[in-house]
Amino acid sequence: MKNTKLIVKTKSKSYPIYFGKNILEQMDKLMKKNIPGVKKICIISDNKLSKILLNKLVRKLKKYDLKIYKLSASEKNKSLKVANKIIEQLLKYNFNRTDCIISLGGGVVGDLSAFISNLTKRGLKFVNIPTTLLSQVDASIGGKTGINTNQGKNLIGTYYQPDFVLSDVAILKSLPQREMIAGYGEILKHSLILDKLFFLWLSKKGKKIIYERNDRLLVEAIIKSCKIKSKIVAKDEKEKNLRMILNFGHTFAHGFEKAKNFSKKLNHGEAVLLGMMIASELSYQKKLLTLHELFLIKNHYIKFNLPRKINKIFKQNEVNKIITYMKKDKKNINEKINLILLKKIGKTTKPKTISLKAKEIKKFLNSYYS
Ligand SMILES: NC(=O)c1ccc[n+]([C@@H]2O[C@H](COP(=O)([O-])OP(=O)(O)OC[C@H]3O[C@@H](n4cnc5c(N)ncnc54)[C@H](O)[C@@H]3O)[C@@H](O)[C@H]2O)c1
Repeated sequence: MKNTKLIVKTKSKSYPIYFGKNILEQMDKLMKKNIPGVKKICIISDNKLSKILLNKLVRKLKKYDLKIYKLSASEKNKSLKVANKIIEQLLKYNFNRTDCIISLGGGVVGDLSAFISNLTKRGLKFVNIPTTLLSQVDASIGGKTGINTNQGKNLIGTYYQPDFVLSDVAILKSLPQREMIAGYGEILKHSLILDKLFFLWLSKKGKKIIYERNDRLLVEAIIKSCKIKSKIVAKDEKEKNLRMILNFGHTFAHGFEKAKNFSKKLNHGEAVLLGMMIASELSYQKKLLTLHELFLIKNHYIKFNLPRKINKIFKQNEVNKIITYMKKDKKNINEKINLILLKKIGKTTKPKTISLKAKEIKKFLNSYYS
C-alpha cells in the first residue's frame, strides 16, 4: 500500500499527517526529518496497548534519551491532577523546548499529552501516534487539547498543533469492535456535515470498513475524513465560527457522556453517533431536513448497526440530567442551548443560528419515551 501525506495548514502552524500500513517502522526517519533537534523524548502511552507495539516504537527511538509514562485511558485521567504529575516528572528530568512528547494512544492520551506539551515550558515538541480509529480521524487533527473537570467534559483546554501525526492502520488491528464503531461515527459525521458523495460511498463500503477492517478502504476513509476536518480547521483554527459545524451531534453527546458519568457503558464515539441521530431527527422536526434524507441517515444506522435509540441507553428519568449538562456546554452564549443541525446531507445550519430553550430540547427528548 502506498504511503500518503496530508499537510494540515493552520494560522499557527503547518504540519504533516502520515498515513499507511506499518509506517511506525519509519518513526526514526520521520523524527529526524520533522524535528531534528530533539534529544529527550517522553512517550505517554495507553497502558492497554500491546507491549509489542510500545517496544517497536522504543526500538525505533533507541538513539534518544527516553522516558515512558503509562496510564489508563479513562476520562477520569484527562485531569489537571494527572497532567500536573507528568509535568512535574518532565521538569525533574529537565525537559526543555527542543525535547519532545510522543502520545501513543487514543483521544484520551492524545488530548492530555497535547495539553502537557503546550503548558510545559510554554511548549515542547509534540508528536501524536493515534491508536484508535476515532483519534486517527478526529482527535489528532486540529490541535484541541482537553481536560475534564467535575463540571463537565473538556472544559479546560488550549490549542496546540503537533509537529507531526503518524496514522498507522496496522495499529487498529487490536482495537475492540465497539471502538471501530465509535471511530466510524466521526467519519460519518464528516460526510454528513460536508460531503454527500462521501456519505453515499460510505453507505456502500461501511461494512468492509467497520466490520472487515479492509486496510485499503480504511486508509481511504481515514484520509478523506482528515481532509474534510483539516479544511475546516485551516479556515477557523480557534473555533470562532465555521469550526463549530464539527460539533454536529456533540452538544447532545457531551450531555449523554456526563449523564453516564463518563462510564464505559457509553463511550465518546457512541455518544456522538446517538447525538447525530437525534440532531438529524430534530433537523427534520424543525423542517430543515427532508424526510427522504432523514430516512437515508436512519437506514445507514440500521444497515451498519450503529447506536441510535436514546431510550435503549437512558431511562426517562435521566433526561433532566442530560439537559443540565447540555446547558453547561462551552459553546452556549446565553441561557439557550446552541446546536448545529442539518439542512441536508452535506450541509449544516450556520454556526450560532440555532439556539433552543432547554425546555424545548427536554420535550423533544421526552418524546422518545411516549
Ligand atoms: N482533541 C480533539 O479534537 C478531540 C476530538 C474528538 C475526541 N476527542 C477526545 O478523545 C477522547 C476519545 O478518544 P478515543 O475514542 O480514542 O478513546 P480512548 O483514548 O479512551 O480509547 C478508547 C479505548 O480503546 C483502547 N485502545 C486504544 N488504542 C487501542 C488499540 N490500538 N488496541 C486496543 N485498544 C486500544 C483504550 O485503552 C480505551 O479503552 C475523548 O476524551 C474526547 O473528548 C478529542
